[in-house]
Amino acid sequence: MLLVTMMFLVVAVEHGAAQGTVPPFPSQSGPENTLGDQSDSDIWRAIRQGGGGLPGSSEVTDGVLINADGVWWSQLRRPAGPLVRFGSIGIATVLAAIMVFFVARGRLRIDGGRSGRRVARFSLAQRVVHWVMAVVFLLLGFTGLLLLFGRAFLIPIVGKTAFSIIATASMQAHNLFGPIFIVSLVALFITFLRGNSPSFSDLKWVVRGGGMFGGHVSSGRYNAGEKAWFWTATIAGIALSVSGLVLSFPDVLGTHDLLHRAELLHAIAALVFVGFGIGHIYLGTIGTEGAIDGMISGDVDENWARTHHDLWLDDMKATKGGAADGRD
Ligand code: HEM
Repeated sequence: MLLVTMMFLVVAVEHGAAQGTVPPFPSQSGPENTLGDQSDSDIWRAIRQGGGGLPGSSEVTDGVLINADGVWWSQLRRPAGPLVRFGSIGIATVLAAIMVFFVARGRLRIDGGRSGRRVARFSLAQRVVHWVMAVVFLLLGFTGLLLLFGRAFLIPIVGKTAFSIIATASMQAHNLFGPIFIVSLVALFITFLRGNSPSFSDLKWVVRGGGMFGGHVSSGRYNAGEKAWFWTATIAGIALSVSGLVLSFPDVLGTHDLLHRAELLHAIAALVFVGFGIGHIYLGTIGTEGAIDGMISGDVDENWARTHHDLWLDDMKATKGGAADGRD
């Protein structure tokens, strides 16, 4: 091993010397061929700064013995580094905020209780697209978090051997579901775009905290919180897809530096997506009474619609001649 390293070093150094980047090694023994005023550290420094090269090589990085381009990334990404630290604090904060909100406010109830009258809200196509995305999101989110946080939090518990199996399986699942995510994202964007453009009434909704702390706030088909989720999922989803493609095809699409930037973008976009997604899942299930009905059967209770989306209900009744059908 030592011999191979030395041979590579000599080739690299001689080639670098020809380019004038690395001080030459003495080629013969004898006092006149010593390093003179050039020390080992000069040589290593030159190599570290990209000196070297293989004869006949055409790639810029082929002959680089030590690639220092990624040092910033490995510092940022190491198990106890800022990405893992701030990322895990961010996700823990979202979970803690939801728990505090649930304890303080409880479930958001339907004003006046269920009426028993049904209002059509989502088409079958919308529900299928939504649930495919939800499943893919859960699979990618779970395996992605294992890959991001596993070294810091799982290795101490399960050990390195078990973690290497978990990480390999996660990587495979991630590579398999990544392309499905991209297709789902496009479908989700097309199917849910209508009703998600920002409007003036969104401002009022935001100022009054969406009625989550009491009082009724009017809203159209989707409220400002839902719109924020739609646009965050779209933008973070595009960032995840583009960076994911670069990472999947590094030979075709990436240089070393671009790959590290893609990894950073991928991790940040994923944390935003997962953080917001946890809030969405909470509000769509236990957080809001009756909300899940629409995504399962396609219908919601009329009093649910009046409580959360009164402008949509009125508009729908007016335009559809009194029929409570709000499907797109
Ligand atoms: C297990 C996971 C999920 C659950 C339980 C869930 C639940 C729900 C429910 C109940 C609704 C209907 C809300 C309403 O009627 O206003 C909804 C709407 C929606 N969901 Fe999900 N969801 C999940 C995951 C996702 C994911 C991963 C995405 C996107 C990336 C997503 C995107 C949407 C969109 C775009 C809407 C329409 C409202 C809007 O435009 O914000 N959902 N979800």
